Amino acid sequence: MCGIVGYIGDNQAAPILLDGLAKLEYRGYDSAGIAVFDGKEIKMEKVMGRLKVLEELTHGGATMEGTAGIGHTRWATHGCPSDTNAHPHFNKDHSIIVVHNGIIENYAKLKKVLEKKGYEFVSETDTEVLAHLLSEYYNGNPAETIQKVMQRVEGSYALGIMFLDHPNHIYAARKDSPLIVGASKEGNLIASDVPAILRYTRNVYYMENEELVCLSREHIRFYNIDGEPLEKTPVTIEWDIDAAEKGGYEHFMLKEIYEQPKAVRDTLNPRLKDKEINIEELGMSDEDICKIKKILIIACGSAYHAGITGKYVLEGLARIPVEVDLASEFRYRNPIYEPDSLAIIISQSGETADSLAALREAKNHGVRVLGIVNVVGSSIAREADNVMYTWAGPEISVATTKAYSAQLAALYLLTLKFAKVRGVITQDRYLSLQSDLIQLPEQIENLLGMKEKIQRFANRYLAADHMFFIGRGIDYAISLEGSLKLKEISYIHSEAYAAGELKHGTISLIEDNTLVVALATQEQLYPKTISNIVEVKTRGAFVLAVTNFGHKEIEKNADYVIYIPKTDNFFTNSLAIVPLQLFAYYISLGRGLDVDKPRNLAKSVTVE
Ligand code: F6R
Repeated sequence: MCGIVGYIGDNQAAPILLDGLAKLEYRGYDSAGIAVFDGKEIKMEKVMGRLKVLEELTHGGATMEGTAGIGHTRWATHGCPSDTNAHPHFNKDHSIIVVHNGIIENYAKLKKVLEKKGYEFVSETDTEVLAHLLSEYYNGNPAETIQKVMQRVEGSYALGIMFLDHPNHIYAARKDSPLIVGASKEGNLIASDVPAILRYTRNVYYMENEELVCLSREHIRFYNIDGEPLEKTPVTIEWDIDAAEKGGYEHFMLKEIYEQPKAVRDTLNPRLKDKEINIEELGMSDEDICKIKKILIIACGSAYHAGITGKYVLEGLARIPVEVDLASEFRYRNPIYEPDSLAIIISQSGETADSLAALREAKNHGVRVLGIVNVVGSSIAREADNVMYTWAGPEISVATTKAYSAQLAALYLLTLKFAKVRGVITQDRYLSLQSDLIQLPEQIENLLGMKEKIQRFANRYLAADHMFFIGRGIDYAISLEGSLKLKEISYIHSEAYAAGELKHGTISLIEDNTLVVALATQEQLYPKTISNIVEVKTRGAFVLAVTNFGHKEIEKNADYVIYIPKTDNFFTNSLAIVPLQLFAYYISLGRGLDVDKPRNLAKSVTVE
């Protein structure tokens, strides 16, 4: 995720661009840049760091005169955060300048072709390919040139483009990344999202896929990818700025819960091509993969919970022994390191102090380290031997949701890859698992439709003192995450238990009306979990069950049932977690708490 803006009109562009970028910082904040026409040339400033660094550098835009410009706030995907990788990007003579939000999937192929033709690349980004490709096709007609480029590139983009010999226009195009156009009396604007332009106008056009637009001071002209003019009707935005930043959602957490289909899709899709799983960044040959004797998964909090699911999935499908450790324990427990082990450090921020220390510990003992990380260029990403990024985009709410779901997706991919290479699953099973994986984003989307039902249920438990989450196998891993989500944002005491372990102590805590959330998605363990449900019901518990479609008979034992769509037993976590996240969210909301910033917690724990 990144944010783009553009302005052309009567006023100085730079302050408007900086102001717009400030409203888009939630989309990325590792570097920022702007480019402005000053009448003769296109001036550009871009720098690594938060937007305030760029603001200081340009004295709030005062050093960059001109009434047309484009800007960008970055969340690194291809290439670490750096001044060079920051946007805008440009062609050789700086006559074409581009800002981009999205991922150009065939950039490596295009880069090779362009390099052969003599184009020199200065950054590690996929975006720079666009600048050179525009240059290659440029025939004096910007719209035609952009159409040709749109036909060549694969992936997603929202683009802002300026051509030196068209100083009275800015151009924009989109596919699968958001882009809006704003019309105001004092000029026209483009942006990734509404908050960036709300100060200047409430009249907005929504761009659809494979459309492009040409803006001047006076006009806005839309075209399709074939260059045919399009008529569009503006929409009036009613939101205030605060609501607009959250995309109309009340909290970032809810917005991020809703972004999960995209986070999972973006993590899966680039690695699933032609019925094969390709994880280039793994840096391991098939021979290396076959040699692995043991996997150590190390992480904290929700990332650790993703790791526990990872253990079940990796052991179950790829048949590799897995140990899962809390990073804070691993670093001091003097573990036994065995040759041919692979350590996997899972972290959203890539900066968690204990996880980083555990990574160093494992590396010092000669263990190869793979990071599963969301923030490009973070410490864990830099220090791991290899890094597999989760493409969840920036996560703002302290309680993780979409990054957790993307971590699960990354672990599934890794498992299928290992299982295939090691020859422990049949081709049919490999393909059927892939087909289940591909369906996950849409299934998650469908589950989000039950939010009202969950809110109504949650409202009955706003005054609860304790709750319990139980499950077996992967259902136990889901319970751990569901329970953590609830307690961290609702401040209700909650515990997760392996269902079979209840009778060894915890069951004495069950009283009349204690809420027990029972996860029953594992077909082979279903009858066992039903017995555990009966045990707690007999002691007076109220049972909310989460199970697969088809298990209607569970209604005889549970008081309230949530059904999840059918997927492979190994992937149910990705679906069952969604109602639990919504449940935690609505409990916190109903209790009037600060959902996005729960007390005593920080988004990134950089101290021990
Ligand atoms: C819970 C949560 C935390 C993090 C943990 C690790 O909602 O977000 O438990 O999962 O602090 O953080 P990362 O993944 O950044 O290493």
